[in-house]
Amino acid sequence: MIGMLASGVYMHENDAYSVYPWHKSFGVLIVVFVLWRIFWRIKNGWPKPVQKYSTAEVALSKIVHWLLILGTILMPVSGMMMSGLGGHGIPLFGIELLPRNPDAIDPSKVVPLNETLAGLGKALHGLGGNLLIAAILLHIAGALKHHLIDKDFTLKRMLGKRIEK
Ligand code: HEM
Ligand code: HEM
Repeated sequence: MIGMLASGVYMHENDAYSVYPWHKSFGVLIVVFVLWRIFWRIKNGWPKPVQKYSTAEVALSKIVHWLLILGTILMPVSGMMMSGLGGHGIPLFGIELLPRNPDAIDPSKVVPLNETLAGLGKALHGLGGNLLIAAILLHIAGALKHHLIDKDFTLKRMLGKRIEK
């Protein structure tokens, strides 16, 4: 997800069109893992806090975790809406999942399949990206706080260590 956000911002800021097919392809591929992860999370529930924290801290972590998990599905879906319905096409590592829809008069331009939904996708992709970056920064600060200030097992548990009770 961090790589996708970084590549998205980079290519958008620098008009790096050679990066677009890679960004789109990895974005499509990610959906498989995201859906699997969300399904797993619904089935198994959220991890319980490793110890007692203030109500405000627990509430903030819940809000951020929801933003993160929703962001993981909102970003690829909005990206596909923007590119696919915008007529730009969706590639998957060289395979055309959805072809470009070139303008009959000027084939260097494209004709959107649904301008409204493509515009909504673009707005969600831009706004969602910025919101997700802010949520991830808060999330990493939270993980470091657990590790360095609370000195608890939250980060170690995330990294796969078993907690002895
Ligand atoms: C995990 C999935 C994804 C993440 C986190 C992500 C993130 C981003 C971000 C942060 C930007 C910069 C947006 C801006 O500053 O306006 C961006 C741009 C873009 N993304 Fe994604 N993206 C994802 C998936 C996709 C997918 C699946 C597609 C299309 C199939 C896509 C197509 C694009 C395009 C075309 C742009 C450039 C938009 C422009 O230059 O105006 N993205 N992405
Ligand atoms: C350097 C980057 C990151 C670090 C160090 C980190 C660390 C952590 C830690 C310590 C937890 C708590 C796990 C527990 O209570 O057992 C957690 C949970 C979580 N993280 Fe991250 N994280 C990072 C990046 C991300 C990113 C990029 C996303 C998604 C965009 C994300 C999404 C989540 C979610 C949704 C949870 C809630 C529990 C779950 O669904 O597994 N994290 N993370």
